Amino acid sequence: MNVDGRPYRTIWLGDDGWSVEIIDQTRLPHAFEIVRLTSLDEAARAIRDMRVRGAPLIGVSAAYGLALAMRADASDANLTRACSALAATRPTAVNLRWALDRVRKVLAARSPPARAVAAFAEAARMADEDVETNKSIGKFGFDLISRIARLKAGMPVHILTHCNAGWLATVDWGTATAPIYTAHEAGIPLHVWVDETRPRNQGAALTAWELGGHGVPHTVIVDNAGGHLMQHDQVDMVIVGSDRTTATGDVCNKIGTYLKALAARDNGVPFYVALPSSTIDFTMSDGIKEIPIEERAADEVAWISGATEQGEIARVRLVPEGSDIANYAFDVTPARLVNGLITERGVIAATRNAIASAFPERVISK
Ligand code: MRU
Repeated sequence: MNVDGRPYRTIWLGDDGWSVEIIDQTRLPHAFEIVRLTSLDEAARAIRDMRVRGAPLIGVSAAYGLALAMRADASDANLTRACSALAATRPTAVNLRWALDRVRKVLAARSPPARAVAAFAEAARMADEDVETNKSIGKFGFDLISRIARLKAGMPVHILTHCNAGWLATVDWGTATAPIYTAHEAGIPLHVWVDETRPRNQGAALTAWELGGHGVPHTVIVDNAGGHLMQHDQVDMVIVGSDRTTATGDVCNKIGTYLKALAARDNGVPFYVALPSSTIDFTMSDGIKEIPIEERAADEVAWISGATEQGEIARVRLVPEGSDIANYAFDVTPARLVNGLITERGVIAATRNAIASAFPERVISK
């Protein structure tokens, strides 16, 4: 998508043809900075510190991390070490494991001298596929939005989203935002309610920045405002992303998503989840019991960062010293609260049968 009129993806190769460049998402929206990754350790740190984040982008970043590792040492031992190091960076987004498994399979079939080139090629393929996948999600989600738009006869469609499942969370287009950008470009009047998404504020910092960059009307709200807006007919639909969805349709996403789904159900607002099939974990059937929920550092809750009036990026402390802090990064919305999954193969029900029929090649037979 465009930044100051120039098209960007979130990850690409530098002019040298091998180093990996990313947008440092911890600096947005106050500074647009590009960071160069040249080693496995730098790639792993970028994922862990959330310079790159969002399930699909974490997957592609890990693939490039493996390529950087192979460039340094393409032995079997280093392949195993690199996969374990990258797998340990973030536990919840299943795209990470999906990407590592995919690249590892390609590399295992090659001798060490051929591995680096093969790894870079596979990572580039994954990046291109992610863009195409999100465009398809956009097309199918567009149909849902335009149906609501017809009923509203020219009044804007109000869409609520949580966290950042935008182009910054993917290689381009985003998952939850792909239908929004597609509808906006088609001239459908719409407006997005953007949950700020404590503690790291990916909604306020990233989703608002993205939507603003594309001229999509939006309003940032505090995380607890969604229910109130739904009670007052201010939300026509909810579209969120996912970090892992089970074979039965339970959706794990940024903490607070479940409460939005409850409020949506109570108010008859359709709740959709936009996701690529790489986010579906076919090994799991019960999201609440089985999906590992990342617990992040207490400092993310205790401190908040932003720009001062002088334009400097600064952190200030919110929580008194000595208070205990818990920082659960994700929660699980049970499939029964989900009206549909917007995937690259269409909008499907959040049920085992519908998911298996849409992606039969991914089903694991027991
Ligand atoms: O912790 P993050 O920022 O990596 O969380 C990812 C998210 O932004 C989401 O939960 C998102 O909705 C799914 S990723 C498209």
